[in-house]
Amino acid sequence: MFRHSVRTFATSALRMAEPSQRLLNIAKAQGVAHGLTEAIGNTPLIRLNKLSEQTGCEILGKAEFMNPGGSVKDRAALYVVKNAEELGLLKPGGTVVEGTAGNTGIGLAHVCRSKGYKLVIYMPNTQSQGKIDLLRLLGAEVYPVPAVAFDNPQNYNHQAKRHAESMENAVWTNQFDNTANRQAHIETTGPEIWAQTGGEVDAFTCATGTGGTLAGTTRALKTLSNGKVKCFLADPPGSVLHSYIQSGGKLVERSGSSITEGIGQGRVTDNLKPDLELLDGSLTISDEKTIEMVYRCLDEEGLYLGASSTLNVVAAKEVAEKLGRGHTVVTMLCDGAYRYADRLFSKKWLQSKNLLTSIPKHLEKYIVLP
Ligand SMILES: Cc1ncc(COP(=O)(O)O)c(C=O)c1O
Repeated sequence: MFRHSVRTFATSALRMAEPSQRLLNIAKAQGVAHGLTEAIGNTPLIRLNKLSEQTGCEILGKAEFMNPGGSVKDRAALYVVKNAEELGLLKPGGTVVEGTAGNTGIGLAHVCRSKGYKLVIYMPNTQSQGKIDLLRLLGAEVYPVPAVAFDNPQNYNHQAKRHAESMENAVWTNQFDNTANRQAHIETTGPEIWAQTGGEVDAFTCATGTGGTLAGTTRALKTLSNGKVKCFLADPPGSVLHSYIQSGGKLVERSGSSITEGIGQGRVTDNLKPDLELLDGSLTISDEKTIEMVYRCLDEEGLYLGASSTLNVVAAKEVAEKLGRGHTVVTMLCDGAYRYADRLFSKKWLQSKNLLTSIPKHLEKYIVLP
């Protein structure tokens, strides 16, 4: 099936799943998914035609917006819940508790409903009412709490942990430092990309929130290619990881911010740590380039993508340009623009972020909101 043989890297703690026939042969539209959880993953790998022509490379995006919860985080949600079950921390009727304002909460809400667990979410009270409403309508109990720094015991993550500890049959899934998150990508995302490209993949790049996607996919692709696939971290403004990598491990204070959501990080999480040394480099992508690519993906490819996805697409384009013509570069299309449309396509919001001039004239027709 593969043009390259599937060899295994000599790594100690790696529980590397060879791409299983069941996993890889059954594409989403074929066969029956036995419940929502079996419909997670196996997303299409979409060739971005215009960008591929422009760069002379194959630029491929993993369509994670096609997961049942609408994002890449469905994979992590499923694996942290499965891991809690396997460890005996979660039994029928139990409760999952997580600190999240974004896609992980949505993924967990779907997975918990489908498996019969209750879900409790803590989030900073600076988040929009829309996010709170969505999680509540998906059945979660939501606690918006004051937005304080991570080292404050009242930080939403610590409150989530204490909530779980105060209950019987409850688990704090701890997406940032629970490596079951990374394992999802070692066992699914990476092998899927390898199989979908027939092993013909030269590079992979994506941004990090928890780091699970980049770390797990990098680990899998390095293992399956015997180290040949080059992997790059893509960072938004306000994240410290690009400078951490470039400086050989100096962690600076977080400063600045980005329009992207779900990505950017102030520390090296336990999910990222084991695979950081495998990376071949990193890039930083400006909000100006990211927002332009939101509009370009829509106009040129018909893809309605959130900003973390288009940051990834810019990164893939830059990696392709660096490698030169004839290479295949894969990235993640993490979610759609649906939850962000009131900002990304609003003239007032673009102006407030000094990004209106980043939209090319011929694409201004997509700025449909005042
Ligand atoms: C939209 C979006 N993109 C990317 C990511 C980053 O994924 P990871 O947490 O695996 O680093 C997230 C994480 O929440 C996200 O919500």
